[in-house]
Amino acid sequence: MKDLKTILIMLFLFSYQINAQEEFTTEERLEWFQDAKLGIFIHWGYYGVKGIGESWSMYHKRISYEDYMSQGKEFTADKYNPEAWAKLFKKVGARYAVLTTKHHDGIALWDTKYSKLNVKEKTPTKRDLVKPYVTALRNEGLKVGLYYSLCDWSHPDYNVVFPRPNTQKDYPQKNQKFLSPWQRFVKFYQGQLKELSDNFKPDLYWFDGDWEKSSEQWRAESLKDSLLAWNPSVIVNSRLKTHGDYSTPEQGIPVIRPQGVWEFCMTMNDNWGYYPTDTNYKPIAQIVRTFVEVIASGGNLLLNIGPKPDGTIAEEQVERLEALGEWIKKHETAVFNSKAGLPYGHFYGPTLLSKDESKIYLCLFDAPKNYISLKGIQNKVKSIKVLGSNQELNFLRNGGAAWNNIPGILRIETPNVENVDTYVTVLEVELEDALKLYRGHGNAVELN
Ligand code: GLC
Repeated sequence: MKDLKTILIMLFLFSYQINAQEEFTTEERLEWFQDAKLGIFIHWGYYGVKGIGESWSMYHKRISYEDYMSQGKEFTADKYNPEAWAKLFKKVGARYAVLTTKHHDGIALWDTKYSKLNVKEKTPTKRDLVKPYVTALRNEGLKVGLYYSLCDWSHPDYNVVFPRPNTQKDYPQKNQKFLSPWQRFVKFYQGQLKELSDNFKPDLYWFDGDWEKSSEQWRAESLKDSLLAWNPSVIVNSRLKTHGDYSTPEQGIPVIRPQGVWEFCMTMNDNWGYYPTDTNYKPIAQIVRTFVEVIASGGNLLLNIGPKPDGTIAEEQVERLEALGEWIKKHETAVFNSKAGLPYGHFYGPTLLSKDESKIYLCLFDAPKNYISLKGIQNKVKSIKVLGSNQELNFLRNGGAAWNNIPGILRIETPNVENVDTYVTVLEVELEDALKLYRGHGNAVELN
């Protein structure tokens, strides 16, 4: 008996140890994400059929609930080729993608048992569309992100601001009469999230729509605990009230460097989903510049595409992805293995620092005139070259008083015209040792 007790205690301690070992710190969970730099956001849903706003067109009463849902009949996914998507993302230099598994409209792209409002039940494709996406991404070594809208404008227990017919038939909820509507809804979305975790083991959850309820209503804290219990390495964006791991500014590029880990998401035109009449595409130069500005401030860019209902990606979007990819390839030493650059004041433009801080990357948006200046660098500089070419640039240190620790400026010659990149030119400044910055206000040179 005593032996049995000892065995049981040992077993308990052993399993406790295994569990403890499985847990990761927030820093460990976020490690891959901080090095990722580029992710692809994919808004794919019914809304592409009529080419209207994703979910919001219903909310703003631009279309009735019934007409919105009737788009499902033409959501064919018949040219859906997730392997081609994943190969393209990889080629572009993205390290992860995030797919809208369920937007605010409530339509699930996977075969969920919690509602009939899913593409397998309601659309000609008659299959789960998330599974092949997850497999294709994994085959290319990309991290898998799943977008999930907490608010659900179809669920009968979720109140909405627009006219909606009775949707009960799409939500078979057995034996739940004793629960309040909100308790039923909580059970519903927690069930769906457990299903997503079990079926796909995502690396990242991208929540949205949390603004409609409070943290208590979403049971945000315990939801985060559950997500981690189901999948200890998963990371979660900020839209789980205050319980996310990283922040998600959207559409307007941050002017002040956000604190902590962050990701900026942006559309290529003005809409998230496929919207063919919206031709207001950002020029490639703007997309490349935005990418550079974001990574120079320590963030990731989550660049959006809105595939068509058949699963193909519009030409304008492919063209932009490929152009960004070419730029990244040419400058990959600066893009990867780097971190946020110098604080404001040293260089007029974005900069990046190699992780060991022995290299500074200066990003030039326009062809420079006269000379390029870099201020406040106390280190000796070994060499300066133009990335993507063999050109070494001459430089000299001017002004300052090095013996008084006032470094003056580095005056760098401008690159040859043929070495100026169409979008953003990057100069690699190699230092003799790890970066030492002068951050002073200036003072008298006391010994001359
Ligand atoms: C907004 C919108 C949503 C979109 C998301 C992407 O929060 O509600 O439609 O999916 O931004 O960041």
